[in-house]
Amino acid sequence: MQYGYFDDDAREYVITNPKTPVKWINYVGTLAFGGFVDHTGGALLCKGDPSLNRITRYVTQLPASEFKGETLYLRVKNGEGYTLFSPYFVPTLDHLDHFECRVGLGYSRIISSFKGIGVDATIFVPLDESVELRLITVTNQSKTAREVDCVPVVEYSHPDALKQFSNADWVPQTMQSKYVRGDGGRTILVQYPFMCRDFKLNYFTTNCIASSFETDRTRFLGDNEYGTWSHPGALDDKELSSYEALRGDNIGALLHHFGALKPGESRTIVTQLGQEDSVAVIREKSGKYCDPQAVSRALNDLSRFWQKYLSRMQAVTPDLAMNRMLNIHNPRQCFITFNWSRYLSLYQLAYGSRELGFRDSSQDVMGIMDRAPDRARGLLVKLLSVQKKTGCALHQFNPLTMVGNEGDSLERNDLPHYYSDDHLWSVLAVSAYVKEAGDEAFLEEIVPFYEKDNSGKPVERATVLEHLKRALLFTWNDRGRHGLPLLGFADWNDTVNLKVRAESSFTACLFGKALLEMIELARHLSDQSLVATYTAYYDGMKKAYNDTAWDGQWYVRYFDHDGTPLGSNNNEQGKIYINSQSWAVLSGFAPPDRATSALQSVFERLNTSKGIKLSAPGFNGFDPSKGGITTYPPGAKENGGIFLHTNPWVMIAEAMMGNGERAYEYYRQINPAAKNDCIDEFQCEPYVYPQNILGNEHPQFGLARNSWLSGTSSWAYQAATQFILGIRPSYSGLLVDPCIPREWDGFTMVRVFRNATYRIQVKNPRHKNRGVVSLEIDGKKIDGAVAPVFSDGKDHEIEAVIG
Ligand code: GLC
Repeated sequence: MQYGYFDDDAREYVITNPKTPVKWINYVGTLAFGGFVDHTGGALLCKGDPSLNRITRYVTQLPASEFKGETLYLRVKNGEGYTLFSPYFVPTLDHLDHFECRVGLGYSRIISSFKGIGVDATIFVPLDESVELRLITVTNQSKTAREVDCVPVVEYSHPDALKQFSNADWVPQTMQSKYVRGDGGRTILVQYPFMCRDFKLNYFTTNCIASSFETDRTRFLGDNEYGTWSHPGALDDKELSSYEALRGDNIGALLHHFGALKPGESRTIVTQLGQEDSVAVIREKSGKYCDPQAVSRALNDLSRFWQKYLSRMQAVTPDLAMNRMLNIHNPRQCFITFNWSRYLSLYQLAYGSRELGFRDSSQDVMGIMDRAPDRARGLLVKLLSVQKKTGCALHQFNPLTMVGNEGDSLERNDLPHYYSDDHLWSVLAVSAYVKEAGDEAFLEEIVPFYEKDNSGKPVERATVLEHLKRALLFTWNDRGRHGLPLLGFADWNDTVNLKVRAESSFTACLFGKALLEMIELARHLSDQSLVATYTAYYDGMKKAYNDTAWDGQWYVRYFDHDGTPLGSNNNEQGKIYINSQSWAVLSGFAPPDRATSALQSVFERLNTSKGIKLSAPGFNGFDPSKGGITTYPPGAKENGGIFLHTNPWVMIAEAMMGNGERAYEYYRQINPAAKNDCIDEFQCEPYVYPQNILGNEHPQFGLARNSWLSGTSSWAYQAATQFILGIRPSYSGLLVDPCIPREWDGFTMVRVFRNATYRIQVKNPRHKNRGVVSLEIDGKKIDGAVAPVFSDGKDHEIEAVIG
């Protein structure tokens, strides 16, 4: 079964069957104002903070047929009564004559038709605005005149998203709506919980005159709410009750009589759902988008934004699905994870437990580095300011208040409240930024540490470089009996929570990689003493790793508090874990024979046709001494599932080893754009990477969940562009070091780098995997494989030959 297709020219995925296996979503706006829209027009919107300033009520756990957040009803006069339907399919669930939802860059467009009435609705948030717009054109496609009414609807949430569900008296006692007359007699419905009445108001309005409205859900559904969203009782009447809700479940419904539309005649209406701090501002701001031309201009601006973002890197390889991901959908997803971290999606619900993750965002930011380095810089400053003076970091933070916390570690008082890896990711992120942007001044910028005095002022500030040094020092001073870093509450794998004094071999490798970056940076800054210090740390950790963590065919993953290895052939469950193999290569710790053996073990013991598993075999039963990993059945999530985030690290390791076949095969087998034909098994959106796929120990092998907000996005992008295609920023220029499948004749890439455009052509006449033998820049041969920094605003032709 297929549910849609890719329209690459339009840079859209087109869903043609609304009954997708799960809701497929798209993001609109940013964390400042926005959220997601599902393919049936439902929307979860918030302003600034999805936990504490949520606007629409969207309960993802309800059945797909249920109305969520926003919808649209049309009704067509039919004798004395009406034919009622939703052009979005949900909630009336009529068998529409035509349905498509075009999932675009920052907008979704639903085009449908039912019994001769066509609808074309584009849903988006204009750049830098606090309003969601729906530009809706209704056309009479039949041969006779039709009398059409149009009723857009929103259902509100209390701004405190968790309170909405935890208190069914306080919330409804506070929720209120009122009517405000806008210019030209427009109806503006204003909604707020009582406590926000004087400073934070939602509004819902259109550019047409509404003849009546409803703000109370009970009245709208009718029959003491035994009326349903699929047929609200109020829509049997000519007019709505125009009632201003004083309490209860608040909605906004606006009834517009379009009158009799002649055959071929259309009406366009623009709905606005936003939030401002006063009625005066709402009146003024909502005037702007009453003009459909202004809406079209905002759409054009949005399209220009994405055009600019995407044009900074475009690649053409022999693999269509790869091109599709690299040029459109993967950078799009990276921008979304950069914005939302793991905060708000169909799966991550922002009821207070997740905010911006230090580790997650430090990795996400690397996914937008080539296209939006300035934005990346902004997030880096925020991240560093939640690092503690000691060098470790708060696990997550609220991006508005910048208040941090220790995440899930707080649930266990017997375990440490820091994660051994968090702070180290910032070293990778900052060095990636400086290589990309050449902005060495950033290293000298002063950023506070997290701790504050009684007046809320930071007690210490230091340069960005000093922040990175503290991060490394923290880990160096926090080693266990094998000389490896202590695990803390957990490392990258949140779900293995061992007793105090357990050690992490993954964090050892991440530390090694961070040290490699710092040594390279220190060399670039000609700081020999730093080079010497970090080389000593590096050699020490490398020795400890190889002396203690080698298990014979692969590296173990942890040492428990009593020194017992986990991820060893001697273990019954969790014999081998992916990360201690891939990162042994990324860190340069593994000597060639061990690297080869470790990666071969990954291939033999963890690889499946649908991705590489995180570990094997899965634990079969809850075991508090191992932690969260044992809460899943074998094959799910971290317990032997295909936890996709880890797969690109193996691609990178294979590419570093020169194995272009395997690197590419690992890339290809998880490319969602190549899953369109087996989507009933995969179930999630084919245009984004999910976080997890059930592994082959699970009966539903191949089923994906937790789409969109995953570190897979950033790393798949980095693995493909920087290691398979091999175009990698360095301090001195753009390195050209591809590691591609032998059968490729080559590829091209256009890449903006430090204010110049590199038009790169890679030729592979001898069908090798790797090894650039000649590099020509603007027609002149140069030594080495690094295209220099031009910064001249011009185009440069780069030709590389693999031989
Ligand atoms: C989730 C978390 C991430 C963690 C991963 C593995 O994706 O957001 O921080 O590394 O799970 O446990």
